[in-house]
Amino acid sequence: MRRIFIIGIGAGNPDHITVQAIKALAGIDVVFVIDKGPEKDDLAALRREICARYITQPYRMVAIPDPVRDRRNPAYETGVLAWHAERARIYEDLIAETLGESENGAFLVWGDPALYDSTIRIIDQIRARGVVAFTHEVIPGITSVQALTARHGITANTIGGPVHITTGRRLGDHRIEPADSVVVMLDGECAFRAIDGEDLEIFWGAYLGSDKEILISGPLREVADAITQARAEARAAHGWIMDVYLLRRSATA
Ligand SMILES: C[S@@+](CC[C@H](N)C(=O)[O-])C[C@H]1O[C@@H](n2cnc3c(N)ncnc32)[C@H](O)[C@@H]1O
Repeated sequence: MRRIFIIGIGAGNPDHITVQAIKALAGIDVVFVIDKGPEKDDLAALRREICARYITQPYRMVAIPDPVRDRRNPAYETGVLAWHAERARIYEDLIAETLGESENGAFLVWGDPALYDSTIRIIDQIRARGVVAFTHEVIPGITSVQALTARHGITANTIGGPVHITTGRRLGDHRIEPADSVVVMLDGECAFRAIDGEDLEIFWGAYLGSDKEILISGPLREVADAITQARAEARAAHGWIMDVYLLRRSATA
């Protein structure tokens, strides 16, 4: 029976990979790599470095083309579901064509596969269709949220308080209560600028774990402009950016 491993590889630092992931990589015959285009070369470089460091047996690398999501679809969820279905069809064909009946394949997933990543859902869809038979296992990785809190040396939660993880698109939907900590991912628009920043502190990080890493923290009202500017400059310099931040009421508020 084919086996598929969905392996979290951490959010940018090759040293973040777990021993469980290294052990799984030691038995891999095929690594499936999603082709995100030239602007994501840095991300592909991390995956290549991980393979070079930890896979010592012969293996094959199979590039998976990533269909372009139709962002004009006004219904966000319907658009994403259609995109997942298209990806499931492509992954299914490639698994059937390139992975032998008794071989092991791996999808290397940025951060942890459970957090804002579609690989688990797509693999579930393929299994549900039943055209190609395989078992699968998820191996956790260090998320960008953990990379962010570690680099700022902070806890994710206040004492006994909740942590809300959301996207830039949904930040405005959430009222930040005094004990809340809100982590915002996938924010291309600096959504923190559009909320009431009074008494809020922000802990922001970009390219965490890499040599491009940038960290800024402080009262939101005081550092919002500096973050916006640093973000725009870094994006222009590198052609891409990934950033994440944590917001909460300042301890002295
Ligand atoms: C598609 S999600 C993937 C999240 C990933 N599965 C995880 O566990 O962190 C991509 C978002 O994760 C965040 N992210 C991932 N890696 C990052 C990094 N090295 N530095 C800053 N943010 C990062 C950014 O908010 C980015 O928009």
